[in-house]
Amino acid sequence: MIIAIDGPAGSGKSTVARMVATHLEFYYLDTGAMYRALTVAAASRGIALEDEAALAELARTLPIEFGYTTGEALPSQVVIDGEDVTRAIRLPETDAGVSVVARQPGVRAALVAQQRALAAQHDTVVEGRDIGTVVFPDAGLKVFLTADPKVRAFRRIQQNEERDPAGEQDRRGAYEALIARDEADSSRQHSPLKAAGDARTLDTTDLALDEVIDRILAWARVARLHHQEGALQ
Ligand code: CDP
Repeated sequence: MIIAIDGPAGSGKSTVARMVATHLEFYYLDTGAMYRALTVAAASRGIALEDEAALAELARTLPIEFGYTTGEALPSQVVIDGEDVTRAIRLPETDAGVSVVARQPGVRAALVAQQRALAAQHDTVVEGRDIGTVVFPDAGLKVFLTADPKVRAFRRIQQNEERDPAGEQDRRGAYEALIARDEADSSRQHSPLKAAGDARTLDTTDLALDEVIDRILAWARVARLHHQEGALQ
């Protein structure tokens, strides 16, 4: 069964998707990390972020791998064409370029094909922007997470601090970058960020993490029963 978790930056997708996957013993696929890895690979090869043909070719040919730490079900490392980009994909310059890369249909076609191939083999929690609408329209459960933009920016700043406690952050800049990326992702022509008609929308602004997880796990239990019934028919 596929569980699709979509939503804007800082809505809690990654944390929630990982925890739900751990609880249910599902695999986990972070599709945003794939667009980010491609952005880093393009920059290090001197490819312009607008060059759709070259980017689509990279997306079709460069292998993206997720590294697993022994004993852990969840990937901790992202590697593209043998280069470990785990840190680089979270840098502000990658944040700034990724939406440009992700809006190009040739890029999306190549990465969506990989996402379908990766997740088709296992029960998987897949997180992104278009998972419930385009990548897995038949997902057993679709969740769309939202939250107030200021709360989302605050969460992202906290995450950055956890990743790099010594780093200086431009908080205002982080907020503005997040709003700009939302706008770019929601208004693009191909596969824009939006809730699928049959998604369950959850506003996490005033919810604690464990409340969000409990709610999704309850939905997942019901979805799993339906999925198993479907398999019997
Ligand atoms: O973690 P955060 O929510 O900030 O972003 P992400 O999930 O890592 O995704 C980074 C960017 O990749 C997004 O801003 C989108 O431009 C793009 N993306 C997409 O277009 N489609 C997806 N399924 C996932 C990400």
